[in-house]
Amino acid sequence: MVSRLCDAHRVQRARLFALLLAGCGGDPAAQSCDGLPLDDRVTCLLEAMTASEKVAQMHGSQLGPVDDLYVTPAVERLRLPGFAMVDGPRGVRAGHATAFPVGMARGATWDPALEERVGEAIGRETAAKGGNVLLAPTINVLRHPAWGRAQETYGEDTLHIGRMGVGFIVGAQQHVIASAKHFAGNSIEDTRFEVDVTIDERTLREQYLPHFRMAVQEANVGSVMSAYNQVNGLYCAESPHLLRDILKGEWGFEGFVESDWILGTRSTVASALAGLDIEMPAPVFYGARLEDAVAAGEVPMAVIDEAARRVIHKKLEFAIDGVDPNVGDDVVESEEHLELAREVANKSLVLLKNEGALPLSNSASVALIGALADVANLGDEGSSAVEPTTSVSPYAGFVDRLGEAAVSLFAVDVLDAADASAASAADAVVVVVGLTGEDEGEKLGPVGGDRDTLALSDEQQALILQVAALHDRTIVVLEGGASITMEGWIDEVEAVVMAWYPGQQGGFAVADVVLGAVNPSGRLPITFPVSETQLPAFDHTSAAVTYGYFHGYRHVDHEGLDPLFPFGFGLSYTTFTYGAIRLDAVTASADATVTAEVDVSNGGTRPGEEVVQIYVAFDDPPLERAPIELKGFSRIAVDPGETVTARIEIDLATLGHYDGGWQPARGPYRFLAGSSSRDLPLEATLTVE
Ligand code: GLC
Repeated sequence: MVSRLCDAHRVQRARLFALLLAGCGGDPAAQSCDGLPLDDRVTCLLEAMTASEKVAQMHGSQLGPVDDLYVTPAVERLRLPGFAMVDGPRGVRAGHATAFPVGMARGATWDPALEERVGEAIGRETAAKGGNVLLAPTINVLRHPAWGRAQETYGEDTLHIGRMGVGFIVGAQQHVIASAKHFAGNSIEDTRFEVDVTIDERTLREQYLPHFRMAVQEANVGSVMSAYNQVNGLYCAESPHLLRDILKGEWGFEGFVESDWILGTRSTVASALAGLDIEMPAPVFYGARLEDAVAAGEVPMAVIDEAARRVIHKKLEFAIDGVDPNVGDDVVESEEHLELAREVANKSLVLLKNEGALPLSNSASVALIGALADVANLGDEGSSAVEPTTSVSPYAGFVDRLGEAAVSLFAVDVLDAADASAASAADAVVVVVGLTGEDEGEKLGPVGGDRDTLALSDEQQALILQVAALHDRTIVVLEGGASITMEGWIDEVEAVVMAWYPGQQGGFAVADVVLGAVNPSGRLPITFPVSETQLPAFDHTSAAVTYGYFHGYRHVDHEGLDPLFPFGFGLSYTTFTYGAIRLDAVTASADATVTAEVDVSNGGTRPGEEVVQIYVAFDDPPLERAPIELKGFSRIAVDPGETVTARIEIDLATLGHYDGGWQPARGPYRFLAGSSSRDLPLEATLTVE
């Protein structure tokens, strides 16, 4: 077996893991470790390693990537491979790869099982490119929609983010190590390298950490990336409270913490003592300076042993299955992956407004208008960027459905008189507007960064108004990574669809939803406010900020404000009726799991998918709290005339609160079920003892 494996794969560098670990060549000391149970094998290798070799397990090899992969040192004599790390949350940032819809779009599917398939596909493509650590998913809370990297995460609610992130990690870790990022409190882009975020312990525990805990305890995520920013006066990579007390201590995390790149590591001793296991991408503070610190007695060898153990353990655990036979280059942008990207886009588009305009019949003639109408708007140009070989713009999507003769294109920012009269002759006009990687994204020089406004540009707003004045069937398709405000034009148009950054197949989805080939089923994973005044302040210039306990729907509910479109909202081309909610208990202990059954009927003429959401009301909380919180959800398919029962498990521990430690829920609670945070027709009560 071993010799066959060696011969078959000797030259494939990308299979270094299996080659080295399968026992091909190497030092007799390593041979003696072969065949031992995993933990014993790690111990055996550690005992065979010199201090320098152990320290070399704790940093990347060099600043720049090798074939798009960030590598860390191997220990050849012990046949211990190095890592090959690569981004990112929407596909592999190496050569060409499938560009999926961004994380926020997948968040709008409310479908963890689908997200597991996305994770598996991206993990597979990562492995095909020789990577073994995928620097994803981004699971930071979207505290404010102006955050430059909003598109990378799944939404504003910790439970929803956690469920989606767990799906992705379980999928990706079929092939490679995933990396939940950025731990923690990273929700501002422009000041990310220095900003000190003050978060009180209760807010930290209840709002900014549970989704990371889920990634660790429910998905066994292999690595966590510490964030650039400070939390409560300490850089995340230097925070024993975050890395040792909580992540490795309370949660029992057995993987490794790698820093964010370059400025993610700020020291040698403080970082090592705090629990940073790997400095990426190169040894600035670790490497020789860490060896010196050990020699000087500033860093105990035990710290090095622990970090090296974590790193080696994950290398063996994830590589132990040897070569992954069904991962060849042909999986990259395979038909299967492109179909999956299209399915996700179909399920992520959110129909926000529809005054009888949609769906357009297939016989319609359509005018596509706007600078983005014939662009595959994939999103951020930073570390989450992905380069597909093909992509489908909205215009291409409509042509694919209706044929060129029925679709006119005006890829302009303003219509001149001739265009205007031509466009007004169409049965319907679709204005494609929104943001691009220029307007928001990871801040790399002049590109990206946080948004200064949630509104569209003046030019795009003027275009919408110009078209709306021309045509009584004006459909606006919005693209972007998070909430966009619409005051000033939304009342003038008949329909609005939020398409996010819908990936390389996104144009098909836009056309299929507008034309009715697909029944829209996306639900907002974030609140769309009427205006920014409805949200907590977003400070992306100060060096120190405070994150309060309330944000998103919990903020607008707590303040008694009515957002433009609430958390969980989305329209369908059919109608869903909520029949009954049944809980499998009337009393339960605070650590129990309760199952809710919710009957939903489809009263329309088309099959559709509905996201049944369950919120718990905090009518008399011991500490100030939002009126309701999401505690479970389930996406179900319901055919016309059919009634389907959604079954949703609620972990009652999530009803507790943090006050110097976790305090259990107690007393009667109202469980509310419905189709959004502001449409909850069903109610059942349960008493927690
Ligand atoms: C970037 C990002 C991080 C990414 C890393 C490697 O600065 O913050 O998300 O994984 O560097 O590209």
